[in-house]
Order: sequence, then C-alpha cells, then structure tokens
Amino acid sequence: MPDQAEPLRQLVRASVDDQIAGNSRLIAVASGKGGVGKSNIVLNLALTLADRGSRVAIIDGDLGFSNLDILLGLRPQYSLQDVLDNRIGLADALTEGPRGIWFVSGGGGETFMEDQSNWQLRRLVEQLAEISGRFDRVYIDFGAGFGRHTAELMGLCDELLLVTTPEPTALADAYALLKLVLQAGGAPRTRLLVNRVATVSAGMDASRKLQLIVRQFLRLDMDVLGYLLEDAAVQRAVARQQPFVLSEPQSLATRCLAQIAKNVLCEHPIEPSERQGIKALLRRFITWR
Ligand SMILES: Nc1ncnc2c1ncn2[C@@H]1O[C@H](COP(=O)(O)OP(=O)(O)OP(=O)(O)O)[C@@H](O)[C@H]1O
Ligand SMILES: [Mg+2]
Repeated sequence: MPDQAEPLRQLVRASVDDQIAGNSRLIAVASGKGGVGKSNIVLNLALTLADRGSRVAIIDGDLGFSNLDILLGLRPQYSLQDVLDNRIGLADALTEGPRGIWFVSGGGGETFMEDQSNWQLRRLVEQLAEISGRFDRVYIDFGAGFGRHTAELMGLCDELLLVTTPEPTALADAYALLKLVLQAGGAPRTRLLVNRVATVSAGMDASRKLQLIVRQFLRLDMDVLGYLLEDAAVQRAVARQQPFVLSEPQSLATRCLAQIAKNVLCEHPIEPSERQGIKALLRRFITWR
C-alpha cells in the first residue's frame, strides 16, 4: 500500500535541513487537574526569563478557552485557531507582550485540540519549526482536559512541565496525565512544579510522593523545578489583568518565580544535538504520523 505520508515527510525533511536557522527548546506545560495555575505560571515565568535575557514565546494551546490574552489584558487580532485553519502563519499570529515576550492566544471558538485533524496538527508542528530560530524557549500552555492528540503532542516536546497543587486529587491526576503521555509513546524530560503550597516543605512532601510513585510505576525520574507559594497577589493580578511579576514585584509569588526561573536557567546546558528542540520535534513527527 502506498505510504500517503511520504510526500509530507520529504517536505518536512527539506524544511528541517534547509530553512530552520535556530532551534528553540519546546516545553509543554500541562496538568492533570484543571485550574492548578498553569497559565499564570507560564506567563509569569516567561516574563521572569525575559527579564534575564531569554527570548521566550508562549503558545496558548487551550483552544476555545484562551486565557493568556485575558491575563495580559490584551486582545490579539489572531489566534492559534487561525493558524491551524491556515488563515495566517504562526509568525504573523504572534503578538508582542510586556518585556518582549511573544504569545499566540488560543482563540475563542468552541474547539479543542482533540477536534483538530491530522492535517491541522501537522500544520502546527510545521509552523512551530518556522518560528524556531527566533526563541530560546517556546512554551505550549495546554490548558485543562486532554486526550490522544494532546498526549501525543506533549510527548513530542523536549520537556514536560507538569504543574500540580499538593492536593491528593491534583497529584493523582498529574500521575494519570504522565501515564497517558508515556503510553502515547512520548518520553519528554519531565519537571514538576508544585503550586499553591503553604510552605516549601509542604511542596517538598507533595513532590516526593509523586516522584516516588512515578519512579515505581512509570519507571521515570522526574526533576522538581520548584514551588510556588499560595499568595493572594496571584488573584489580585488576575483581577487586574496584569501579570503579578509586573504588578507586584515584591510579592511572595514573584520571589518564588525568581527562584524557579533561576532553576530553569541553571539546568544542565543542553548539547545542541539533533535530538533537541523544534527541529527534533519535526523529525519525531515524521516517524509519528
Ligand atoms: N500561587 C497561587 N496563589 C493563589 N492563587 C493562585 C495561585 N496560583 C493560581 N491561583 C488561582 O488559581 C486560578 C487558576 O489559575 P490558572 O488559570 O493559571 O490555572 P490553569 O491551570 O491555567 O487553569 P486551566 O486548567 O483552566 O487552564 C487563578 O486565577 C488564581 O485565582
Ligand atoms: Mg490555563
């Protein structure tokens, strides 16, 4: 039977080798349970990293329930859905936010990543490759709810930033998500961030529990990226539609984010090998579809 994907593979191979100048690190931000703080974390982390010289973009992968634009108080003209529907390129859908970060909003339609066709997923991957040279890090905020497409996409990323709160339900759901990503064939480096902790030691307790069961049952070693304390500054910032690192630079939450950003930047440098970054994502995509 002829392989219908072969022309695509040839096209992607050509673009990988000839057209992509740089190679961003692609990080999936995900949780099992919804509402644990992913969007606030990725936005404020991006701003903190930008302040330290990183070139960062955020893709709001929460199609239909776009939150980044609301958290920033901005109304971009285009959304990720416009990109997926081939109305515009990802590079042109990017909107500049504070401190020179760039983002694409998820859009306000009633669609989910799971509703996207193979063709649309392919387009997403190709478009990510096109912007690769512009950024050091590209975060995809996956929003709540997931299925096969999202688990596969997460698994194709270089890194999975798994966000949870210390609640047993959130920990159980984080475990379930990780299991799905692994079952979908992905094996991204996984880093855990525990949000809304009363104390750092409560965060350490929660992360130890999850690390233990993940190691025991999924045979995966998971790093801890850090802890974010419960802080009313987060809620005030959401209400003001201003990221807390900007509106409340002295807050506890901002200080936690500074430590988290430090951990991001202090991670072992990644060899610029073929196996890393969005170029590698394209290569993995070729064998996946
Ligand atoms: N560290 C914190 N301290 C206090 N409140 C917090 C903290 N982190 C998050 N919150 C609260 O949780 C709410 C949800 O956060 P956020 O929208 O970032 O979660 P999410 O995981 O992106 O949600 P979804 O799964 O719906 O995408 C915030 O609006 C805020 O009220
Ligand atoms: Mg969100």
